[in-house]
Amino acid sequence: MTRVFSGMQPSGDPHLGNLLGAWVNWVAMQDDAECIYCVVDLHAMTSPAEHDPATLRQRTVELATGMLAVGVDPERSILFVQSHLSEHAECTWLFNCVAGFGELRKQPQFKEKSEGRGESVSVGLFDYPVLQTADILLYAADEVPVGEDQRHHIELARDIGQRFNHRFGEVFTLPKAVHPEAGSRVMDLQDPTRKMSKSQSSEKGIVRLLDDPKKIEKKFRSAVTDSATDIRHDRDDKPGVSNLLEILAGATGDPIDKLAATYDGGGYGPFKQAVADAVVERLRPFQDRYRELEADPGEVAALLERGAERARAIAAPTLERAKQAMGLLPPG
Ligand code: TYM
Repeated sequence: MTRVFSGMQPSGDPHLGNLLGAWVNWVAMQDDAECIYCVVDLHAMTSPAEHDPATLRQRTVELATGMLAVGVDPERSILFVQSHLSEHAECTWLFNCVAGFGELRKQPQFKEKSEGRGESVSVGLFDYPVLQTADILLYAADEVPVGEDQRHHIELARDIGQRFNHRFGEVFTLPKAVHPEAGSRVMDLQDPTRKMSKSQSSEKGIVRLLDDPKKIEKKFRSAVTDSATDIRHDRDDKPGVSNLLEILAGATGDPIDKLAATYDGGGYGPFKQAVADAVVERLRPFQDRYRELEADPGEVAALLERGAERARAIAAPTLERAKQAMGLLPPG
């Protein structure tokens, strides 16, 4: 059976990009794969400016609650918190001795996040993709459902796994990224040339999954579009309209071409309203379920504890095999 692994950082409120780029696939893949999903709290510590201990703790619970609310089914899938297993950090060290300084320095996300920060960049930020490699390879994941921005990180995981296998013997399965047809790169509503981002988008540019319907409508009404009034998909020429079309396709499941044909000629106003309505409808069951789960934090904590046990049963033997392959002396 196909094994799936993916993770999300508890570094801010989840938004429409997280839902359409990743969560939609997380939920769908549960039907025919063995799925393992993780709140990657160790990754969220890599930017000191965003790392407040009390907030991190709170967001970890909130994000796990969000994953359950969106439809991650703890009976069929494994849901856990990364730091509950020491295996991830330990495996990162093994991979640190396989990964190259040059390939990490070139990672686009590292370049973007470290820009202008000189010597103050943490070693954790530099090592971030190696920890992500450990997350994925510890579970022998075949497929990793993620947004387009994670493509390089998954390629690096493949490279590191392949190099390890070549040097020390076949221990790791090489994963591949899986992106949704629409929504693999949801852009900021105010600047459709940049991705919607927890840390970088302005309040008007980001649609948070728990925003109330009025707020969502307002944000779509003021979304930046383009000068001409035609509605068609062309990311270069019409980034604003294309982004809205992709969001509408992601929210409804309808193909982009069909949606463009339906709304072209009707003006931007009704089109934006249709996108807002579709997103509000798409989010309604999520928001209702979130409120229910939020009322029972004990239940969420118990599910996470059970998830960690099940995750460890897979990760620990893989780590042990990797250690032995590298020549580390087994204890006793
Ligand atoms: P994170 O927490 O930034 O984002 C979680 C998921 O949401 C997707 N995403 C988007 N998709 C479309 N449009 C957007 N604007 C958008 N913004 C975010 C991301 O691609 C991701 O799928 N490094 C990862 C977390 C991670 C991980 C892993 C993922 C750690 N270990 C192992 C997969 C497997 C990250 O920063 O995601």
